[in-house]
Amino acid sequence: MKSDYSISSYSIKFFKVHGDDRGCLTAIEQNRDIPFDIKRMYYIFNTQSKIKRGCHAHKTLKQCLICVSGSCKVLVDDGVERQTIDLSQPNKGLFIEGLIWRELYDFSADAVVIVLASELYEDTSYINCYDEFRQCFKNE
Ligand code: TYD
Repeated sequence: MKSDYSISSYSIKFFKVHGDDRGCLTAIEQNRDIPFDIKRMYYIFNTQSKIKRGCHAHKTLKQCLICVSGSCKVLVDDGVERQTIDLSQPNKGLFIEGLIWRELYDFSADAVVIVLASELYEDTSYINCYDEFRQCFKNE
């Protein structure tokens, strides 16, 4: 049955930029710009250019990744196909919901990635092994 993971998806959304001669501002509001209650925010910075972060999946977590400074790439894998998303605009959000394998890499030295999440941190929600991730689809 595919139904368990049928809500697994990823998508891009651009947030509104309020710009004037002072600079720019982007506001992000729960349940307006983000389609879930935001229970957690964390950010990744001072990342080495040659390393990968992420490299895991969650079954039900919803997240929005925004690279507010610098740039990075995100590989997303829904169990069928893989796609690479460039995050290099501070108003570009990558929404990930459900069983999606993700890897963050190619960080610029000034990269800051903010992640908004629908749940509190719980290390037991992680699928850290790619084979285990693939196995989830075989059981459908
Ligand atoms: P980790 O999951 O390895 O980060 P990434 O997904 O970017 O590879 O997390 C690094 C450390 O931070 C690890 O000790 C767990 C901790 N952590 C929290 O305490 N809260 C959080 O919300 C997250 C994402 C990680």
